[in-house]
Amino acid sequence: MKLTYYGHSCFAVEVKGKKLVFDPFITPNELAENIKLEDIEADYILITHGHQDHIADAVELAKHTRAKVISNFEIIEWLASQGIEGGHPMNHGGAFDFDFGKVKYVNAVHSSSFPDGSYAGNPGGFIIMGGGKNFYFAGDTALTLDLQLIPKFAKLDLAILPIGDNFTMGVDDALVAADFIQCNKVMGVHYDTFGYIRIDHEAAQKKFADAGKELILLDIGKSMDF
Ligand code: NI
Ligand code: MN
Repeated sequence: MKLTYYGHSCFAVEVKGKKLVFDPFITPNELAENIKLEDIEADYILITHGHQDHIADAVELAKHTRAKVISNFEIIEWLASQGIEGGHPMNHGGAFDFDFGKVKYVNAVHSSSFPDGSYAGNPGGFIIMGGGKNFYFAGDTALTLDLQLIPKFAKLDLAILPIGDNFTMGVDDALVAADFIQCNKVMGVHYDTFGYIRIDHEAAQKKFADAGKELILLDIGKSMDF
């Protein structure tokens, strides 16, 4: 399964021939200046919560790709008010079978409001089960005991976890999270974009390696198979 990283918490995964783009935040991200939003294709756009650094390019991307947006109820309603109709609303604990596989929207411990300050529902993460692989994107979350539920829903091939600290869990807590979700292959996101979340890449990867786990830090614009 092919994953391409677009910086911060934005990436795309191809599942059963469908392109899923997560948390589109490209044009405001100086580190992603070589990524052109208009070049990105999407059949689905999945949004974990309403913060600017996860939703900034959602309307534009949905407009030019005509992708279906999957998110919580409040975000789908807000997008409809911006002219993006036909989104698929979900809420915590719910799963749904799409043409590429099953999506379960799970809890995240964080906050969620729109760039204008209005209520954006509760923040979440997604478990994607399709194309013979399962992966989990945590969105923005603290380390929480709820993560122990994830292995009851799916045996994961990859987990995409925030590691930048300050606004979300950091590297040490992500190591514990990897134990809770029973997945030793982790891709780090939500780091380096702002001053508060810069990390030492080598030190982070060494911590994972010392614990018998893998921390993947993809360069922006690069792809990998998992
Ligand atoms: Ni956030
Ligand atoms: Mn964030």
